[in-house]
Amino acid sequence: MTQTILILNGPNLNLLGQRQPDIYGSETLADIEADCRRLAETFGYTIAALQSNHEGELVDWIHDARGKTAGIVINPGAYSHTSVAILDALNAYESPVIEVHISNVHKRESFRHHSYVSQRADGIIVGCGTNGYQLAVRHLATILAS
Ligand code: DQA
Repeated sequence: MTQTILILNGPNLNLLGQRQPDIYGSETLADIEADCRRLAETFGYTIAALQSNHEGELVDWIHDARGKTAGIVINPGAYSHTSVAILDALNAYESPVIEVHISNVHKRESFRHHSYVSQRADGIIVGCGTNGYQLAVRHLATILAS
């Protein structure tokens, strides 16, 4: 069994730290990935981290993760609310999936209240800021150990 956790981020999350810091905080994606790497190591996992602004690229990466990764932590960004293609790709992925949203999407516009990915997710972390990624890695490691 492979020991890699894939952290996948969707559109606009490359701008973390610059983008609406009142909503998304001041940490960059590189900061988040480094924190997750350090945490994952304590559980014996390595992190592969990818970000794309393109739906099809995210779908391709989910396909590539099949059989090669222990689990996925995904923040699909705005594609959460629109993408049946990402849901379908995750449904073809056999290992646990944790969905992360930095902001509390339920306190925001109603179009953010529904996520297609949530139908597939084994856990959802919402509104815990950028710390949500570490919570997701921790929860994934717990699921995988059980
Ligand atoms: C987000 C919430 C989405 O509604 C938004 O489109 C994002 C980020 C979050 O992490 O809070 O890009 O997924």
